[in-house]
Amino acid sequence: MQTKTEHLKKPPAANHTGKAALGFLNATKTYGDGPPALDNVSFDLKPGQFTVLLGPSGSGKSTLLRAAVGLVGLSAGEIRVQGRSIAASGRQARQCIGMVHQDGSLSDRLTAAQNVLSAMAPSMGWLRTLFQAYPAPLQRKACRLLARVGLTEDQANRRVRELSGGQRQRVGIARALMNDPDLILADEPVASLDPATARSVMTLLRETAREYGATVLCSLHQIDLACDFADRIIGLRAGKLVFDGEGADLTPRALAGLFDQTSTSRPFDVVSP
Ligand SMILES: Nc1ncnc2c1ncn2[C@@H]1O[C@H](COP(=O)(O)OP(=O)(O)O)[C@@H](O)[C@H]1O
Ligand SMILES: [Mg+2]
Repeated sequence: MQTKTEHLKKPPAANHTGKAALGFLNATKTYGDGPPALDNVSFDLKPGQFTVLLGPSGSGKSTLLRAAVGLVGLSAGEIRVQGRSIAASGRQARQCIGMVHQDGSLSDRLTAAQNVLSAMAPSMGWLRTLFQAYPAPLQRKACRLLARVGLTEDQANRRVRELSGGQRQRVGIARALMNDPDLILADEPVASLDPATARSVMTLLRETAREYGATVLCSLHQIDLACDFADRIIGLRAGKLVFDGEGADLTPRALAGLFDQTSTSRPFDVVSP
């Protein structure tokens, strides 16, 4: 018998080609003449893993995630998606990426379902997009996804400005899944939510990513959430990668180095993955 979510699943780990889902090689970004927002950052995501990018405000998390989808150009270095440089292959390389934004980045004038369908806009004609004339199979898929993330049919057909913060983030997750992504990038997806709602949205993100066999890179500044949800934690401070390990490796000293503004010593020993 088909389970409730069977129809949403891709074959398990279908995208796991052995190539890193996402790789950064000496990624460096300087805005104007300021200090580097990203400073020689290198790491590969492991396919299928849920990796948290942890760091205080201003440490470069958004810059790194935005660079991976081409919204920010690197000053130096390279980003590869499944082995292909995004600079060389551009939009094509990024088609397998779903993005969840901090504030949901939803269109308030559209319904939840229309927001989910908007993920398909780049591959649709502008006329269809303008008139919300999406093919019926896509509309059904959007409805199934919204049901999966816990929205009722009534909520799916409401304008998103009438939804709560948690419901909006659920819509954001459904939209990120619409394109069957191999990779999900989430930029502080729970920053504006209360602690209980934040946990339920993180749980949903992890569960749905697993169902899809999608690799996740999710930025957070909450240590407890990072430890509870991450398979692996990458720590950023002032644009530098200063930690790479599991939650259990985040010792008090390591945490002080990552978040304590007064610490002047070397943040902490980098833990090999
Ligand atoms: N568009 C921009 N123009 C100038 N400086 C920026 C811009 N975006 C980010 N920065 C700077 O880059 C650094 C990293 O910012 P950001 O990537 O937003 O960090 P985080 O997401 O961890 O808070 C900060 O010092 C920030 O002020
Ligand atoms: Mg940010």
